[in-house]
Amino acid sequence: SQYQKGVKHLCEKGHLHEVPKKYILPASERPTKSVEDPNVAKQNLQLPIIDYAELLGPNRPQVLKSLANACQQYGFFQLVNPCISDDVVRSMIDVSGRFFDLPLEERAKYMTTDMRAPVRCGTSFSQTKDTVLCWRDFLKILCHPLPDFLPHWPTSPVDFRKVVATYAEETKHLFLVVMEAILESLGIMETKQELEEFGNGSQMMVANFYPPCPQPDLTLGMPPHSDYGFLTLLLQDEVEGLQILYQDKWVTVQPIPNAFVINVGDHLEIYSNGKYKSVLHRVLVNEFKSRVSVASLHSLPFNCTVKPSPKLVDEANPKRYMDTDFGSFLAYVSSRESNKKDFLESRK
Ligand code: SIN
Ligand code: FE2
Repeated sequence: SQYQKGVKHLCEKGHLHEVPKKYILPASERPTKSVEDPNVAKQNLQLPIIDYAELLGPNRPQVLKSLANACQQYGFFQLVNPCISDDVVRSMIDVSGRFFDLPLEERAKYMTTDMRAPVRCGTSFSQTKDTVLCWRDFLKILCHPLPDFLPHWPTSPVDFRKVVATYAEETKHLFLVVMEAILESLGIMETKQELEEFGNGSQMMVANFYPPCPQPDLTLGMPPHSDYGFLTLLLQDEVEGLQILYQDKWVTVQPIPNAFVINVGDHLEIYSNGKYKSVLHRVLVNEFKSRVSVASLHSLPFNCTVKPSPKLVDEANPKRYMDTDFGSFLAYVSSRESNKKDFLESRK
C-alpha cells in the first residue's frame, strides 16, 4: 500500500498537516498530552547512572550494587564514560541519519518483509501485522559474525560499512563487559565456556528514524514493548522520545550526550529467574524535530534453550520460568508481540 514505503517518504510526498487515519491510535492507547501546568513537574525520569570507568576500578563492588538495583527497580540504566570514543558514537548516529536521507530508491533496495534478511529496511513496528501504523522507519542489520554479514550491508553512504563495523565491534565488546558485570552482580561466577556462549550470540543493529509528526498526541513512534534478547544498548540523539513504564507511569528518559541507555531483555529476566526485570518502553514522536536512535540487540545463539540459571535456583528460590526454546519463542513473539508478556507469564 501507499504506507509501505515508510513515514519519511509519506512526509516528503506532501506537506502533511494531519496524521493520516492509518496512524491514529484508539484514544485509550494515545500518549497523554504533555502537562502544560508549570506547577506539575514534568514526568522526566533520572535513570540510575553507571560509570563504566568506575565499574572497572577499585569501586567495582559499589558499582555492582547500583547495577543490581537498577536492573531490579528500573530494568534500565544509563552508562556513561563507555570504552567507546565519542567520535565512534557520533559517527554511528550521523551515518544512520545520512542513510535515511538517501533517496527512496536507494533505501528501497533493502525493503523486505523477510525477517531473516541480513539487512532489512522497513516502517512501523510489526509492519505486516500492525493495524495502526507507527510513525517510524527503520534499518535492521545483522552484525555477528561480521565476515558473514558485512558483504550484505549497504554501500551507501560511502562510509556506512566502515563506521557501522567499527561501532558494532566496539559495542559487542561493551556488551560482554557489561554482561560479565551483570552476572557478577547476580552472584554468578561464570565459567569460561558460558562467557564464550555470550560472545557467540547474535547482534542486531537497529537504526530508527522518526520524522517530525504534525499531531504527535495521536500516534507513537513505537508501541509499548519489551526487548526479547539479553541486553539492548541504545544510543539516542539529543531529541527526547523514549519512555519507560516506571511505577505504572510513562516517564521520559532524558538524553545524555554519548551515554548508552541499557536495558534488560526478556532472556535476562528469565535467566535471572525474575530478579532483573524486562520493562515495557515506547517512543513518542515530536512535532518539530526528527529523531534518530540506534539500538544494538544482543542475544544468545538461536539454537539455545532459555531458562533460569541453575545457580539462581534453590529451595528458597524456586524456578519461576519453564525452559523455553528460543526458536519457538521468537516465532511466537513475532506473530503476537502484544501478548509476549502473557506468554512469559504462562511459562512460569
Ligand atoms: C527501542 O528500541 O525500543 C527504543 C528506540 C528509541 O528510543 O528510539
Ligand atoms: Fe525496545
